[in-house]
Amino acid sequence: MNAQTPKGYQGKHTADATSVEEGLAIQEEQAKYDDFATEKAMSNTLLTPRFYTTDFDELDAIDVSSVREDWDVLIARMVSDPNKGHFKKNEDWDHIDWDGMEPGLKKEFIDFLVSSCTAEFSGCVLYKEMKRRGSNRDITRLFQLMARDEARHAGFINDALREAGLRVNLGFLTKAKKYTYFRPKFIYYATYLSEKIGYARYITIFRHLEANPQYRFHPIFKWFREWCNDEFRHGEAFALLMKTDPKLTSGFNVWWIKFFLTAVYSTMWVRDHQRPAFHEALNVDMEWYGQEVFRKTSEISKQIFPITLDIDHRNWKPLLRRMQNANARIAEAREKGGLAGKFGVIAGSIKAGTAFVRLLLIPSIPNEVPVSTRLEPVY
Ligand SMILES: [Fe+2]
Ligand SMILES: [Fe+2]
Repeated sequence: MNAQTPKGYQGKHTADATSVEEGLAIQEEQAKYDDFATEKAMSNTLLTPRFYTTDFDELDAIDVSSVREDWDVLIARMVSDPNKGHFKKNEDWDHIDWDGMEPGLKKEFIDFLVSSCTAEFSGCVLYKEMKRRGSNRDITRLFQLMARDEARHAGFINDALREAGLRVNLGFLTKAKKYTYFRPKFIYYATYLSEKIGYARYITIFRHLEANPQYRFHPIFKWFREWCNDEFRHGEAFALLMKTDPKLTSGFNVWWIKFFLTAVYSTMWVRDHQRPAFHEALNVDMEWYGQEVFRKTSEISKQIFPITLDIDHRNWKPLLRRMQNANARIAEAREKGGLAGKFGVIAGSIKAGTAFVRLLLIPSIPNEVPVSTRLEPVY
């Protein structure tokens, strides 16, 4: 099922691409050699994660002079491209018997890969668009570098999927996906958090498997450390962007920060609980994993957010479980269909919504934000 070398890109791999344009062109070319019957069916079910668009002119108007020193260090690091060539299979890539994989695990793992690939590509599209529309040299350069990384990440996940006879059709996604408009400040909160929680998720799995290699059922996890360092740097960039305007992290906006923290954390919890077989294969307790990722993300986000969520509050986990149950109920009701199904969806949604509001009402923990946002990945 291996794709042949695409014409015009002989010997070229997305891992070596130095720009997002090149990375995507290689994948597009390669896609011509793929013939997967399952692809279309899969594309249609790709409802999450979302794709975003924003007010690019407002983003373009950002002046980074107030954070210039840290900005230049970060950009220089990204320009030096420590992960060039990293995201491709090498001798560490063990053979995977996809046909022999337990069907429940296979289904959940493919779902994990597909949604991860879509998330990477969603970032890629947003960053690439910003680079294309902007004229501010600082901003366009940053977004070009981040888009380059995300294109590689998506390409690498597609390499893994290809072995299972699947791939995420990136060209199709660009056209078919609905784009959600977010004001720039919401893009900062949401994207900053998704980059940092992405780091925390990948490094937690990587460290766990480093200590317990017998549970590493697929070689892609070996690539997670360098991978999450890319995401860490992307998060650093958004922290600096927010730092340029103190209004973004004060006053009423603190409520928005709390809203996004709660939404991102609870979404992760609910989605992860939809993959019990995947976590069991990794020998990861889902509640432990969730809390561990929240703890790391909260610790990191103290670099820029004046509050953290109280994830040790007595109502925190019970309310997350309530949301998760409500979600399962909604899924069941959808499957059932008919009037009873509709009723079930409404009842489930009310239950989930109430639990979410109650999560929002848990008092947050104030935090003294440091003068410099600069952090190193230490986990
Ligand atoms: Fe990424
Ligand atoms: Fe990223």
